[in-house]
Amino acid sequence: MSTTQANKIEIIKAPNTKINEVDFENINFGSVFTDHLFECDFKNGEWQNPTIKPYAPFLMDPSSRIFHYGQTIFEGMKAYKDDNNDIWLFRPDENIKRFNTSAVRMAMPEVPEDLFSEGLNQLLKLDEAWIKKGLGNSLYIRPFMIATGFGVVANPSDEYKFMIILSPAKAYYSGEVKVLIAEHYSRAANGGIGAAKTGGNYAGQFYPTTLANKEGFQQVIWTDDATHTKLEEAGTMNVFFRINDTLITAPTSERILDGVTRKSLIDMAKREGINIEVRSILVDELIEGIKNGSLKEIFGAGTAAVVSPIKGFSYKNEYFELPQIENSIALQLKEKLTNIQHKLAEDPFGWTV
Ligand code: COI
Repeated sequence: MSTTQANKIEIIKAPNTKINEVDFENINFGSVFTDHLFECDFKNGEWQNPTIKPYAPFLMDPSSRIFHYGQTIFEGMKAYKDDNNDIWLFRPDENIKRFNTSAVRMAMPEVPEDLFSEGLNQLLKLDEAWIKKGLGNSLYIRPFMIATGFGVVANPSDEYKFMIILSPAKAYYSGEVKVLIAEHYSRAANGGIGAAKTGGNYAGQFYPTTLANKEGFQQVIWTDDATHTKLEEAGTMNVFFRINDTLITAPTSERILDGVTRKSLIDMAKREGINIEVRSILVDELIEGIKNGSLKEIFGAGTAAVVSPIKGFSYKNEYFELPQIENSIALQLKEKLTNIQHKLAEDPFGWTV
C-alpha cells in the first residue's frame, strides 16, 4: 500500500443520522456506534479499496479464519472536542505502532501508518457531531483487524479486513472497583501473546473474571503465570500501586500490554516530582503494605478506564480495603491527564494531535 492509496478513500455517506436517537448522558460503554465506519481489505498481498461507509453488519464466510483460530487484533483510542470545536487525539502514533506490533505477533499484515491515520481522520471529520465537549465525554475509537481468508486450515489467513468503528463514551467503570488477585488462572505466559492486543487475551479472562464477578469483584489483577507472586496487569488496564509516597507499576514484558495511559502516567508522575518505580511488585508487598498502613492506593490505567481507583482487593479468600485518603495521587494524575486530553491545560509533552 503506497501513500497514494491513503488519499483514495471512497466516502459513501449514510442517508440519515442516528444521532438524535442517542441519549448521550446515559450510554453504556461501547454499546452505541456512530453513523459511519472505515474499512479496508487486504487481498493479493496489498491493502485495497479504503472506504468510509454507513455503519452496518456485513457478510462473512463461515469458514473465515477469525471464527476458528482467533486471528484478530484491535486498539483502543479516544477523540476529544475542545471549546473551539477542534478535535484532538491523544498519542495516536503510539496506538498505530502498537497495532502493528500486535499484527506482527499474530502473523497478520501491518497497516500502513498513513492509511490508518487518514482513514481515522476522515472518519472523525464525518462523524464529528458524535464527539461531545466536556470532561468525561469522548469518542472511543476501536480500530481492529480480522482474518477473512476462506478455509479452516490452521494457517495464517491470506485475506484480512481492517476497520475503524467509533462509539461515544463516558466512564468505563461506574462506581467502585474491587479486584481479585489471581492465584490460579493466568492471563499470559512468557513467549505468548500477552503483549499483543488480540481477542484471545480478553476471551481467556472472561471465565475467571466471571467467577470473580460472582464474588463481587469487577476485575482480576493478574499475577505472573509461573509463581503467581508478582502483580502484573488487570486485563482491561495496567495497574499502579502507591506505597507511602512511591508509585510502583510492573515493567512491560511479553506478558504485559504496553499501555499508552500507563506510559503517559509514568512520564507525568516524573514531571510532577512523584517517586515512581517501574519494577516487579510482589503480592506479599501489598499484603504487608495493607497491614502496616503503607499501602495507600491502587489504581488502574487504560484508554477506556482512564484512571480508575481501586477500593479493595481479595487474596486467598481475605478481603482488604484500602484506606480513605486525602490527596490521592490517582485523582491528581487523572485530573492532569484528562485536562491535557481535553485541551483544558497546557500539554508540555506534545501528546495531543
Ligand atoms: C482500552 O482501554 O481501550 C481497551 O482496549 C480495554 C478494553 C477492554 C475496553
